[in-house]
Amino acid sequence: MKVLIVGAGGREHALADVLAGCESVREVHAAPGNPGIARNATCHPIAATDIEGVTDLARAIHADLVVIGPEAPLVAGLADALRHGGVAVFGPGAAAARLEGSKAFAKDVMQAAGVAAASSFTAATMTEARAAIAALGGPAVVKADGLAAGKGVVVCDDAAAAEAAANEMLVGGVLGEAGRMLVIEERLVGPEVSLLALCDGETAVPLAAAQDYKRIGDGDRGANTGGMGAHSPVPGLDVTRVAELTEAVHVPVLRELARRGLHFNGCLYAGLMLTATGPRVLEFNVRFGDPETQALLPRIEGDFAERLLEAATGRLAREAVRVRPGASVSVVLASRGYPEGSEAGVAITGIDAAEATGARVYHAGTALRGDRLVTAGGRVLAVTALGASLAEARERAYAACESIAFDGAQYRRDIAAAAVTAEALVTS
Ligand code: AMP
Ligand code: GLY
Repeated sequence: MKVLIVGAGGREHALADVLAGCESVREVHAAPGNPGIARNATCHPIAATDIEGVTDLARAIHADLVVIGPEAPLVAGLADALRHGGVAVFGPGAAAARLEGSKAFAKDVMQAAGVAAASSFTAATMTEARAAIAALGGPAVVKADGLAAGKGVVVCDDAAAAEAAANEMLVGGVLGEAGRMLVIEERLVGPEVSLLALCDGETAVPLAAAQDYKRIGDGDRGANTGGMGAHSPVPGLDVTRVAELTEAVHVPVLRELARRGLHFNGCLYAGLMLTATGPRVLEFNVRFGDPETQALLPRIEGDFAERLLEAATGRLAREAVRVRPGASVSVVLASRGYPEGSEAGVAITGIDAAEATGARVYHAGTALRGDRLVTAGGRVLAVTALGASLAEARERAYAACESIAFDGAQYRRDIAAAAVTAEALVTS
């Protein structure tokens, strides 16, 4: 088949890589792609959010399957436009993509589906916000309802901080439309895990559990980012536990959406917190995670394109996605100033040397200047290594990172460190 991947980041590079290696795939195209993707796909200079442009391209190249990476085009209805034109799409339509596009909608679906989440209130005015904060009576989390590129969640220690956060969004308008409505919820405690499942509207087939690292600094300090690294699996979350969680979270959500006439064909990503009183959903994403995908996909065996096509066309087999035993660790290399800003045009060296160690280097924010590879975004590369254990994968990933150089490069040194310790406990 001919596959068209929509997007330009590290997630899409990992998708392009695994799909290009599938027996069923004859050609891979990307819109717009990036210099890494261009190594085994044809890139077309069309923005992911250009609905008409992508739809025309899919038709022109006779794409058999379109895989949409980022959330913005999904929420804007790209999948609907493509399906309307008769193209098979891995990615939900706009109405189901509201699971990510509106936190209030996600809460409503979870409540109706009986899926465990933090108790919460919606607030569109400061009076409502104050009442919600008072009702929660302590630490609270203030969330913008709409898409806010990772900036829409403020975890607060007390009522005063929560009121200030609510005021910035509702009155100050710092997040624009996305923050005109808030979800204010109870602050939970526990380790976080990302659980992604391929879905065809009815059936959910999970991938291995993954963990991402959202803060810029070691020890989870500093500003929130798009994600500074990931690993898979998560110690303690074996295949049986992952299957149980999928039954408790993804399946009831699919059923509730279907009851509302919405069929979710794509990747449903549940951000879970494992609290002392059981797992709770913190958020849904309606797409593959970034950088979880860069850790998850290199482990996949078998024809992943076929599985995505099954999900896209409503005939997903219950059969598990096959993965290589062992583990993977992915470390994100970011440019100076990230996440507040980034530096473009800085020369990057050492990717070949890093890959010679057996690691995979995914491009996230790169560009070609003549024949020189330069930085072109906050998150520049994701370096993934596999190993028999998390410990081995982690060692290999960091060894590969040392080969890569660009001025101002920054990366966390503790990706998967705690998991390696936990892994030792689980296996001893
Ligand atoms: P979200 O985009 O909803 O996943 O929120 C981003 C981050 O905020 C999560 O990864 C958590 O670390 C944190 N967070 C979100 N909701 C809660 C909550 N109810 N309690 C504690 N932390 C939370
Ligand atoms: N890694 C978090 C996300 O993809 O939203």
